[in-house]
Amino acid sequence: MIEFTNVSKTYKNGTPALQNVSFKVEKGEFVFIVGSSGAGKSTIIKTILREEVPSSGMVMVNGSNLIRMRRRQIPKYRRSLGVVFQDFRLIPNMSVYDNVAFALRVTNVVSREVRSRVPYVLKLLGLAGKAKSMPDQISGGEQQRVALARALVNNPAIIIADEPTGNIDPELSFEIIDLLSEINIQGGTTILMVTHEHELVSYFNKRVINIEDGRIRSDTRAAGGGELFTGADVMATHARELPSRQLAIDFSDTTPRSLMDDYEARKRREAREAARRRP
Ligand SMILES: Nc1ncnc2c1ncn2[C@@H]1O[C@H](COP(=O)(O)OP(=O)(O)OP(=O)(O)O)[C@@H](O)[C@H]1O
Ligand SMILES: [Mg+2]
Repeated sequence: MIEFTNVSKTYKNGTPALQNVSFKVEKGEFVFIVGSSGAGKSTIIKTILREEVPSSGMVMVNGSNLIRMRRRQIPKYRRSLGVVFQDFRLIPNMSVYDNVAFALRVTNVVSREVRSRVPYVLKLLGLAGKAKSMPDQISGGEQQRVALARALVNNPAIIIADEPTGNIDPELSFEIIDLLSEINIQGGTTILMVTHEHELVSYFNKRVINIEDGRIRSDTRAAGGGELFTGADVMATHARELPSRQLAIDFSDTTPRSLMDDYEARKRREAREAARRRP
């Protein structure tokens, strides 16, 4: 679905951002991309979006060869991806509703569909009450969720997210990844997500690609089972399965368990309440 083969990228000013990067993401995978600031994560994302073209190497996404892609093919290609940017990129003079609807309208979805799908994703992301607000009238976390709603509304085969939880509180970050995880599992949507948040990465048991200085330092598969693990569990499992590899990230600085415990307790409570409401 996404394949990088020996991709190198040197920006015009001579900065080497990627050096000989190769990886392959299959349909239905959920992959975290981690690494320190300036490591090359956004360059990978921009390459997939065809905003940057590699200096050498090969990139295939969903059957398209991005190196050979013609300029006029790019808009259609981009519309096939659900994208959440580091800086949201909401349209300032459009309401929340229209920001999301716009993503559908540019793909020529009929208005009846727009009227049913937009309220649905807004509700899914807890934004139903904000449909008429303008981007500057809502909080950073809400703006983040609008960006996510816009990425989801087309039901894309691939979701690409550059720090979608960068500006929101930890509780909500869990929610958003939980939601993405559900979309990944239920819909088979391929998800590639850049994040700085070690706690999230260690909590959600997914594949982790670690970029350092423009190179892949490690690429660790999720441990089996698909259930939730604590950082320590993930680390132990990875250490067992991949003895010769360095761990993707240092899990030693994960924040206290209480946050995870709160989250799990709340999820269980919600599930109980939902079960009670069912006839
Ligand atoms: N347009 C550009 N022109 C020149 N150099 C750039 C450009 N964009 C990024 N770089 C450089 O390329 C390297 C990789 O940048 P990139 O944005 O991919 O890092 P990142 O891993 O996303 O970092 P962060 O976590 O801070 O977002 C950095 O050294 C950066 O300064
Ligand atoms: Mg970045």
